[in-house]
Amino acid sequence: MPEKVVVKNLYKVYGSEPGRAMDMLRAGQTKDQIFQQTGMVVGVTDASFAVNEGEIFVLMGLSGSGKSTLIRLLNRLVEPTHGQILLGGQDVAAMSKKALIALRRKDLAMVFQSFALLPHLSVLQNTAFGLEVAGVDRKARERRAMEVLDQVGLRTFAHQMPAALSGGMQQRVGLARALAVDPSLMLMDEAFSALDPLKRTEMQELLLQLQKEQQRTIVFVSHDLDEAFHIGNRIAIMEGGRIVQVGTPAEILRNPSDAYVRAFFKGVDVKKYLLAQDVARMDETLLIRPSADARADMAQAVEQLRQTRRNYAFVVGNDARLRGGVSLDTLLRGLESGASSLDGLYLDDMGPVPAALSLNALIGRIVRHPLPLPVVDAQQRYLGAVTQTVLLQKMVDIDTDAQIGEAGDE
Ligand SMILES: Nc1ncnc2c1ncn2[C@@H]1O[C@H](COP(=O)(O)OP(=O)(O)O)[C@@H](O)[C@H]1O
Ligand SMILES: [Mg+2]
Repeated sequence: MPEKVVVKNLYKVYGSEPGRAMDMLRAGQTKDQIFQQTGMVVGVTDASFAVNEGEIFVLMGLSGSGKSTLIRLLNRLVEPTHGQILLGGQDVAAMSKKALIALRRKDLAMVFQSFALLPHLSVLQNTAFGLEVAGVDRKARERRAMEVLDQVGLRTFAHQMPAALSGGMQQRVGLARALAVDPSLMLMDEAFSALDPLKRTEMQELLLQLQKEQQRTIVFVSHDLDEAFHIGNRIAIMEGGRIVQVGTPAEILRNPSDAYVRAFFKGVDVKKYLLAQDVARMDETLLIRPSADARADMAQAVEQLRQTRRNYAFVVGNDARLRGGVSLDTLLRGLESGASSLDGLYLDDMGPVPAALSLNALIGRIVRHPLPLPVVDAQQRYLGAVTQTVLLQKMVDIDTDAQIGEAGDE
């Protein structure tokens, strides 16, 4: 996927002598030391990452970790102290003020936590505001505004004033106003954090639904792991101005970089975010690679199952695709009845599990049918097996991680 935003070694120091603070950082001093000695605040330190076109990239971290500073550096609402911000190949950090203003109007849109609507303008006028500033004529901008109000479910409220709307609806207007200019990059800073949990979930769903249709590039700031995992394709976790880990939700869950990251798992149902492919194991179940001699294959598999005290095996063809699952019993019956192929022996209950099935759904299946289940990709290629034992082990690991996270919190 092409990269929309590339950030390289980006720093922001708030204070009168940023050069001095930079020297201290390079000499290995910490944010706290610099603050104590100089009173200057390191907002972001040595941030490097890339955002792919069409993805939702979430900046996540505790309050004060530098999320807002970083997202505002992207459109230079905050001036960088050092580093590069490439937007579609163009260096935002080196851009003239004039070019920057044009870029913000046409190509970047920001949604804030405080809805920042203009109280004396109607919902429609608020939505069309960015287009008006960009010089779009009235008819065209109102047509476009109606279109996006429709997308966020507010068409019938177009002529109301913002004060007549609930918080959730006001934030829909904020979203519509950002969408109206058809930005190639949307920046959303805690956009849903002021809403009550129900409205917040509703907005997350709306964003995901719009994203299915429009595939925008979105940088989204959140302090909430549940929100980050729910909407983020990838997440950058920030601590003390630094990015400590970047990855997909499953990557971060599988391999949290430290106790700070693990502490976020507390109170989050991480099983929701793990997929069958994350727990499938290659060494759990016997694989049968069918040869021209099906009876020899059966006899050999029976032998191997007995030796390893197992009951089940998967049949995987030369093309790496899964054919089906068999048991010791069905193999013996096949031998007895003189079957000339393995194909008639497959067990219905060992049907394939798609790689992207959630762990929660997988648990449901394993509980109903406690057999090893084969996990396959979209081409039906075998990726590994999930058994009750594998699942239980995974749950224990998750639990241990959560406890370590809790301990790290104190
Ligand atoms: N305008 C500013 N002047 C001085 N310090 C600031 C300013 N804005 C933010 N900071 C400081 O920079 C650090 C990062 O803040 P911020 O980016 O707002 O974090 P977050 O959005 O993760 O809560 C904090 O220590 C904060 O106090
Ligand atoms: Mg913030």
